[in-house]
Amino acid sequence: MIFGKKKINWKVPKGVEPTEFDRKILNFQNRGFLVPKNELVLNEEQIEGIRRSGVVNTGVLDAVAAAIRPGMTTQEIDDIVYQYTIDHGAIPACLNYEGFPKSVCVSRNEVVCHGIPSTTEVLKEGDIVNVDCTTILDGYFADASRMFIIGETTPEKKRLVDVAKECLDLAISICKPFTFVGDFGNAIEKHAKANGYSVVRELCGHGVGLKFHTEPEVCHYGKKMSGMLLVPGMVFTIEPMINMGVRNVTFDKKDGWTVRTADLLPSAQWEHTFVMREDGLEILTY
Ligand code: MF3
Ligand code: CO
Ligand code: CO
Repeated sequence: MIFGKKKINWKVPKGVEPTEFDRKILNFQNRGFLVPKNELVLNEEQIEGIRRSGVVNTGVLDAVAAAIRPGMTTQEIDDIVYQYTIDHGAIPACLNYEGFPKSVCVSRNEVVCHGIPSTTEVLKEGDIVNVDCTTILDGYFADASRMFIIGETTPEKKRLVDVAKECLDLAISICKPFTFVGDFGNAIEKHAKANGYSVVRELCGHGVGLKFHTEPEVCHYGKKMSGMLLVPGMVFTIEPMINMGVRNVTFDKKDGWTVRTADLLPSAQWEHTFVMREDGLEILTY
């Protein structure tokens, strides 16, 4: 609860009788909880649009999965993402996004996220690699990422990849309507710590769908009942970044993008785009 700075996000027009749905949200708002703005609740037409974009997005990552191998450059992954996306009538959202120069983020080992594909970066046996792709189809955004293990890796790196996936699956299982971002953020951090790992705090999940990044801010740590209230119709990502060592990260000053672990130990991340339903999260990037 944030005392003293009550935010009025949810609005019911004057003279209009609040629905049961309005009343539930207003009740939280009146008690000082952070609730969504009305515009964050999307209609079925918009959700269907994001789902169609998600189908292309999943196809992109499946195409990467089929091709990824030792000896490949990260630029070759970018080429696959660009070509598949364009061939399916869509646009790679990352390309030129705030100056990002490529169509996809490829983040190896100690790179936490926002790795820039390059003709000189070669995938090696034992690497763990995150491929994070956002697709725009008919104006709708879908955002997902997966980890790939190149050939065989060490049991330590394999376990990191698995626990990062468990963190996302755990969040999916406990995230229900009229709970808060902090409820699953708290659970993610507990699970990571129980395995001897840490959770990155500088980067978060986000609302998505009509734009690339919107509210809510989806922190993968925190206190229960903190962050924004989640209600049916909201579309957002969950994308925990789990580090083998310290949670701290560095931002590459030269390229302006690459995020690395401060101790250069490996990091792993999985991401999906979800819509909140009456009974919990529905994945839109399958
Ligand atoms: N796809 C990333 C996310 O999950 C954002 C990448 S922004 C880029 O939010 F510019 F680096 F591509
Ligand atoms: Co992403
Ligand atoms: Co995202």
